Amino acid sequence: MKALVLSGGSGTRLRPFSYSMPKQLIPIINKPVLEHVLENVRALGIVDVGVIVGDRGPQIAAVIGDGSRLGLDITYIPQDAPRGLAHTVAIARDFLGEDDFLMYLGDNMLPDGIEEIAADFAAERPAAQLLVHKVADPRAFGVAEIGPDGAVERLVEKPAVPRSDLALIGVYFFTPAIHEAVAAIEPSTRGELEITDAVQWLVERGAAVRASRYEGYWKDTGRVEDVLECNRRMLDGLEGRVDGDVDAASTLTGAVIVEAGARIVGSHVVGPAVIGAGTLVENSHVGPHTTIGRDCVLSDTRLAYSITLDGATVRGVSGLHGSLIGRSATVGPAEATGRQRLVVGDHTHVEVAA
Ligand code: TTP
Repeated sequence: MKALVLSGGSGTRLRPFSYSMPKQLIPIINKPVLEHVLENVRALGIVDVGVIVGDRGPQIAAVIGDGSRLGLDITYIPQDAPRGLAHTVAIARDFLGEDDFLMYLGDNMLPDGIEEIAADFAAERPAAQLLVHKVADPRAFGVAEIGPDGAVERLVEKPAVPRSDLALIGVYFFTPAIHEAVAAIEPSTRGELEITDAVQWLVERGAAVRASRYEGYWKDTGRVEDVLECNRRMLDGLEGRVDGDVDAASTLTGAVIVEAGARIVGSHVVGPAVIGAGTLVENSHVGPHTTIGRDCVLSDTRLAYSITLDGATVRGVSGLHGSLIGRSATVGPAEATGRQRLVVGDHTHVEVAA
């Protein structure tokens, strides 16, 4: 059994972050989403992993390396442009050989694990086994129509009138039967080779296609709101730990991780929260549900339900909530009273007090 982890794509919904970094490296509790994904793959006993990368492949390789740190043997497979999920299967054909494989979108978080579903697939070996998750509004998703025995009868992309509330989520198990389907389909109207078309091709030819309900927590971290919400959920499971310095004038409440070399001075940190290595927090109120990256500076600031990436500086700002602050970004008070000054990059989203 191999795995194919998809870390290309254009990440337009995560601009401006995706201008300078692949979205799969966005940190959730200070660890790239892709690393959470790879740990989940390893937990299934899979070692041979192909990672699809686009033009930001070198950044991904610099962080993940050859996989040995995670107990994996990683082969990077470059994709010249985001030509669709089924296209990634086609370009990974040599890597995959005649093995069964797990295809896992590199921006999807399933922290509760998929061991049971993987065991079902290994026992039954249907041509395809899809993961579905009950969603409130299926109209935004690919939807699986499933018979009483769990067999997939039809897949419908973004149905106007959904006949099921079970959305396809970013994990699929395949036998090599998928390769014939991928070779047979044509690009969709949006110009991509769609994996749903390949699976539908299998359904129409009578191949066994099954769906398993994933009941745990699932998040596609494709938008800022999703990243913050996923970070909140992952923080909720953490236990506090202090490896850095907390001075006598500071208080930590609830589960707070203070990483090595971080300093908390005259501040209140309300957990769950993580303060990254080498970061200084002074005269500030941080948390709950906040992750501060490495080597950041927060002073005279009030910040909750937010993430700052490595090297960010926030000074003299109160009332920050639901914020995602990029690497080495600076946020500070206006120098002249009555004025607000912004230096904001392309596709950035800013909300200021009226
Ligand atoms: P998406 O999030 O559907 O696509 P995207 O990355 O282009 O994002 P956006 O819609 O914001 O522009 O992709 C799901 C995952 O699959 C993600 O990790 C990127 C990856 N992917 C590839 O590796 N190759 C591809 O051709 C496509 C379409 C996606």
